[in-house]
Amino acid sequence: MRLTSFLSCLLVQSLAVNVVSSKQWPLHDDGLNKVVEWDHYSFKINGERLFIWSGEMHYWRAPVPEMWIDILQKVKAAGFNTISFYGNWGYHNAKNGSLDFENGAHNFERLFEIAKEVGLYVLFRPGPYVNAEATAGGFPGWVTTGAYGELRNNDTRYTDAWTPYMDRMSQIIAKHQVTNGGNVFIYQIENEFGNQWLDRVKKIPDLVAIDYMELMESSARRNGIDVPLIHNNPNMNTKSWSKDYSNEGGNVDIYSADHYPSCWSCDLTECTGTNGNVPDFTTFEYYTSFQDVAPTQPSFLAEFQGGSYLPWGGPEGGCVNNTGPDWVNVFYRHNVAQKITAVNVYMAFGGTTGIPFPGVGTSYDYSAPISETRFVGDKYSETKLFAQFLRVARDLTKVDRVNNGTTYASNSAIMTTELRNPDTNAAFYVTAHAFSPSTDRSPFKLDVSTSAGRLTIPQNGGNIVLNGRESKIIVTDFSVGREKLIYSTAEVLTVSIQDGKPVVFLWLPAGESGEFLLDCIRIPLVLKKDGCSNIKFKQGRKGFVTSYTQSKGSCVLQFETGIRFVLLDRSAAYDTWVPSLSNNPFTYENTTVVVQGPYLVRNVAIEKKTIDISGDWSEKTDLEVFAPKAVNSITFNGKKVQTRKTLYGSLIGTLKASTHSVDSVKSSLPALTSWKVNDGLPERKAAYDDSKWTDADHTTTQNPTAPATYPVLYSDEYGFHHGNLLWRGRFSGAATGVYLDVIGGAFSGWSAYLNDKYIGSWVGNKDSNGALELSFANATLNTDSENVLFVIQDHMGKDLRGGATIARGIYNATLVGGGKFSSWKLTGTAGGEDNIDPVRGVYAEGGLHAERLGWHLPGFNDAAWKKGTPDTGLSTDGANFYRTVVPLDIPKGIDVSLGLKLSSPTGLHLRAQVYVNGYMFGKYIPHIGNQITFPVFPGILDYHGDNTIAVSLWAQDAAGASLTVDWTVLGVVESAFDPGFEADYLRPGWTDNRSDYY
Ligand code: GAL
Repeated sequence: MRLTSFLSCLLVQSLAVNVVSSKQWPLHDDGLNKVVEWDHYSFKINGERLFIWSGEMHYWRAPVPEMWIDILQKVKAAGFNTISFYGNWGYHNAKNGSLDFENGAHNFERLFEIAKEVGLYVLFRPGPYVNAEATAGGFPGWVTTGAYGELRNNDTRYTDAWTPYMDRMSQIIAKHQVTNGGNVFIYQIENEFGNQWLDRVKKIPDLVAIDYMELMESSARRNGIDVPLIHNNPNMNTKSWSKDYSNEGGNVDIYSADHYPSCWSCDLTECTGTNGNVPDFTTFEYYTSFQDVAPTQPSFLAEFQGGSYLPWGGPEGGCVNNTGPDWVNVFYRHNVAQKITAVNVYMAFGGTTGIPFPGVGTSYDYSAPISETRFVGDKYSETKLFAQFLRVARDLTKVDRVNNGTTYASNSAIMTTELRNPDTNAAFYVTAHAFSPSTDRSPFKLDVSTSAGRLTIPQNGGNIVLNGRESKIIVTDFSVGREKLIYSTAEVLTVSIQDGKPVVFLWLPAGESGEFLLDCIRIPLVLKKDGCSNIKFKQGRKGFVTSYTQSKGSCVLQFETGIRFVLLDRSAAYDTWVPSLSNNPFTYENTTVVVQGPYLVRNVAIEKKTIDISGDWSEKTDLEVFAPKAVNSITFNGKKVQTRKTLYGSLIGTLKASTHSVDSVKSSLPALTSWKVNDGLPERKAAYDDSKWTDADHTTTQNPTAPATYPVLYSDEYGFHHGNLLWRGRFSGAATGVYLDVIGGAFSGWSAYLNDKYIGSWVGNKDSNGALELSFANATLNTDSENVLFVIQDHMGKDLRGGATIARGIYNATLVGGGKFSSWKLTGTAGGEDNIDPVRGVYAEGGLHAERLGWHLPGFNDAAWKKGTPDTGLSTDGANFYRTVVPLDIPKGIDVSLGLKLSSPTGLHLRAQVYVNGYMFGKYIPHIGNQITFPVFPGILDYHGDNTIAVSLWAQDAAGASLTVDWTVLGVVESAFDPGFEADYLRPGWTDNRSDYY
């Protein structure tokens, strides 16, 4: 370029800025503090705008504090700037009057420290109701009896019940707010309680709901919460709690809504009521609703689908394909097109525990970006591409939605939304198929308006392509340091500024062509060629337009100002990490370095001339690092890597292939063959001593649904809320049978015995109740003395929302042919609400004989037991309990994800539960569920010691039951995370007070 034309280029630039004028929107802080503010566009934290990009996890579904760092580092490495946590009232408050924020994961304060250390803001959602597919939506069992009213209202009985929990939660969270030097910046009140209106159209308020919201808000404020309060409406229609929408009471500071466009469940029929009967992969409109309900606030999706849960009966492994990488690509960009600037992805990591969930099994993998195995794959990588773009697209935090339509693109199948920053004139053109489910390959050119004028891009041949379920955000006047990318048809992956000079990473699927124009720039040097072909430069009005075809890998161009462009294909982009040298959640460009190659990069530090990278890998990996010039050597997890500097300033080296693999770890694991066995159901015998059991003798109940027969046989009234329940009813006389209607929740089951003899079972289906009339014909009835009817029932957790008060127990117990029960007894979890295992917590065990006596715990002495294996099992009805103790010694330096794989012959009606060191980590009902792989967290497993593995096997009929239990190795990588941490305190052993609970 001649000097004169270059000068004229600079002149054009100075004339071209600031073409858009915009409405002035009020900035709020609701008088709380100046640390968190917000307006029509976005949140501002410490005066700076941030696109809130959050991911959800539940600590109580991952009850191993030493493991949380692994998850939070992965969340941060994916590019999230915020993490969201639900509380769980029931987990912390097993008994009215006793709170536990101390034992094991009940003390979750380490989460705040880790969030601070890795650089994540925190959204906290304590409840009191959370939903979350947790039993009773997080309500403690004792709250669900009916004695506290309907719940979720201003009934003083209910208010008094939740207040201690919510007060304590607020006090703990308050210490970690941004206003106190922590990272918590918003706080959610209740969950999906969109009940402000009795009649929304006529705006008739629901005064009870308002009072309830106000009570919770004042508890939060009273206990030190001074960050904004938010509420997540269950959908776009409820329009509750927004200050912009009404002056009614109960309004929170910031309105938000939840949405699950592709269903929150693998069973898509669960969502047709909310989403309608739309074709799979349909995107929804949010913009109008947010402008209607909360125009002066950021458009905020406090829950947006990150995957979906696996209901009982759903496919093994969940429905990963419903929300796979293509879904992530299209739906997350779609939200940007809706001018949304705050999103919480539900879930980032779902986790798993034995906590009972109504309708779902023990897995809460959720097909989330980080799987319950803790390992990551393409969905995580695709999430990362989007997130890394968001992080550097700082101008996106203040955009007007200028227009949208199909005329921007030369192909009418393409819908484009133009978003423009009124201050900088940067624009974002979100392109997608107008019919979102389309799988067509659609090439097009796009009309954009830039500081170089109106352009149709690409200008010099080729097309932008949307290949099926894909969306692209085309940027114009995008700031890269002090320079401007006038446009790029390849998407921006990231920008890192080193030694004051930007390195810009653009990505495209291999085979596609890209074109970009950097403001006022001359032809660059092509310093690495092999990842691109056809590189061309053509002088345009404001500099040289670069065009190229992307192939596998990357190529590098360096411009005269020192700015470098790295052009890469999708798979190279998947392997690109942007760790930061600072723990500021804003993750400024001048604090990042770029590391390419490994499976995971967790963290970096620069010490003089050495960069230390901590991360994970397994195969031989080519490592490439873009770091400041002064850095000339690399250590990876503390070990030196042979490096050399490239022509364009990066460092390259190689990580050697790991000597460990899934196979090598698998072959080193101890065989699960040497088991001991004992009778798991002695209570079926008439002579069983139930003198210490609880009398079930209530003649009245506060439950909204009265039982059909008395005494009341609802377990919650007697303090038993979880796991298996055992009932014994006595009667005399000449009954010929019994009619039993047992409520256990969907997919529950029960078996009944008369005087030692099996008389029948309900094996379970979708119905919450199982009702059967059973004959006594095959049993021996004592006509002159007492008979004992024994019923064992499974308990699948309590229902959600209004269903939380639906009882578990026996709704109807009627003798057929005459006579009445003279008494009933019941047992369940040892100690009932007293929670004698405070570390594992109230949800960890139920009322099986083995659980009550602690046979599942480490250290129980089974010396007197016989040898016997679950794969031999039982040849008839009944239950056995098996134990084995096996040592593990996982090699140091690697992260290993282990699980148990269960199988059984088809056609059996069995219910099995698997315990690892006292934690129930697998509920297996093969005639109902398809889950066969049960991941177990490190810390639950001791990677350098003995592990007690136990199985309860309940055969629901005379065909008996057997179960094969084997290890499965779900991932092996060289890692900076040590899963062999010391965590004995999480695995307390058997104590002799257990013997009282026979
Ligand atoms: C939302 C709810 C969450 C969870 C989700 C489905 O409606 O707020 O708690 O239940 O649905 O997984």
